[in-house]
Amino acid sequence: MAQLWGGRFTEKTAEDVYRFNASIGFDKKLLKDDIKGSRAHAKMLAKQGILTEEERDAILGGLAAIEADVMNGHLAITDEYEDVHSFVEANLIKRIGDAGKKLHTGRSRNDQVALDMRLYTRSCIGQIDRHLGELLKTIFSVMEANTDTIMPGFTHLQKAQPVTLAHHFGAYFEMFRRDRGRMFDIFKRMNECPLGSGALAGTTYGLDRDYTAQKLGFYRPTANSMDGVSDRDYLIEFLAALSIVMMHLSRFCEEIILWNSNEYRFIELSDAYSTGSSIMPQKKNPDIAELVRGKTGRVYGSLMALLTVMKGLPLAYNKDMQEDKEFSFDAMETTADCIRLFTGMLATTTFHKERMLSSAKGGFTNATDAADYLVKKGVPFRDAHGIIGELVLYCIKENKPIDALTLEELQRFSGQFTEDIYEAVSMTTCVNTRETKGAPGKKAIEEELLSCREYIDNIKWLD
Ligand code: ARG
Repeated sequence: MAQLWGGRFTEKTAEDVYRFNASIGFDKKLLKDDIKGSRAHAKMLAKQGILTEEERDAILGGLAAIEADVMNGHLAITDEYEDVHSFVEANLIKRIGDAGKKLHTGRSRNDQVALDMRLYTRSCIGQIDRHLGELLKTIFSVMEANTDTIMPGFTHLQKAQPVTLAHHFGAYFEMFRRDRGRMFDIFKRMNECPLGSGALAGTTYGLDRDYTAQKLGFYRPTANSMDGVSDRDYLIEFLAALSIVMMHLSRFCEEIILWNSNEYRFIELSDAYSTGSSIMPQKKNPDIAELVRGKTGRVYGSLMALLTVMKGLPLAYNKDMQEDKEFSFDAMETTADCIRLFTGMLATTTFHKERMLSSAKGGFTNATDAADYLVKKGVPFRDAHGIIGELVLYCIKENKPIDALTLEELQRFSGQFTEDIYEAVSMTTCVNTRETKGAPGKKAIEEELLSCREYIDNIKWLD
């Protein structure tokens, strides 16, 4: 047991208590950020005359050596230390002696861990942002290639009106574009430095918090030291944003699974992104899409867990907050993997355009357009709706689509039907006459593609 405290104690910590209390098993992930923070702290202490330049240089040298040795496997992070902060400090002292004992001047593990978590989360926000950008590029390339690919649009999972694949994917483009926006918003709000908050009430040393904040790439130091050590809002916001990303992916996966089913056959997943069955030789299963859908639960769980951990905590730091780590790390990794895998799956998917078109033709997706046709001939919309409803019922009985009826049959329902009805309810007309802004019509989708292209071409990454 290598602990940073003990002077006040007369008895040893019970073995079980030590293990229960320790966080080294998971906070070792913070090693690089911990060292980064310590470097900035040491430089600032020297600048302020709290450390000598020699002490600073010894500390910087020691920290660099610890980091290098851990990376190249010469130094193991073991359970012997309570947490990553203790590990670094103990090893520093072992290496450089008394100068190492001065590193923690004007600092507490409370502001140290608050800093480490922020640094770690900040870089994860950047990574998620990049993955989302790659996904958006992939979605966009499917859109560009499929402005003429007609497919049924659904409401209530019932065929509703014809749309195009470009338009359908355009909806997901918007969702993931908003997700990137959320990353940007969170980044802007969270990019403040808690270092220098001390245990809770700052410190009596003349620290230069602006200096450390700037050295570590933050906009400014946090404004209140008690908030500085006990704020985990940014993490909750990030987990909420990740939950929304996962919700979007999960909806997309649900469609992929449906479209890949034997009944739909709108798409075929590549072999590289499918799996087989141990018993049924014919099976090719969409496991990746199912897993992404399933992992959504894990990420939601992390958000709920952290909200619950934080809900009853009095100011300022409480040990409960150590529980912010494991499930946050899990949620960040899970979401990053899911976006990456999903992007790969999408990029290698084959779209069966003929199948999509015939499905659109088969489901009376042009019924609204048939009603609109009558409206344009002067029939009030409500009456037209009734007439086409009866017409559809007839078609279902006859097992024919609307445009397979003869003009004579059509005229039994309304005298307004003339030869031009066939053109008016063709799938191409139905799609291309939908020219309201944001609709699937040719001009409308071209405009949408233009704005998406501009977005893709001007992506600014957060990291
Ligand atoms: N391992 C702790 C955490 O993750 C570090 C902070 C410990 N601070 C303390 N006062 N015990 O929260």
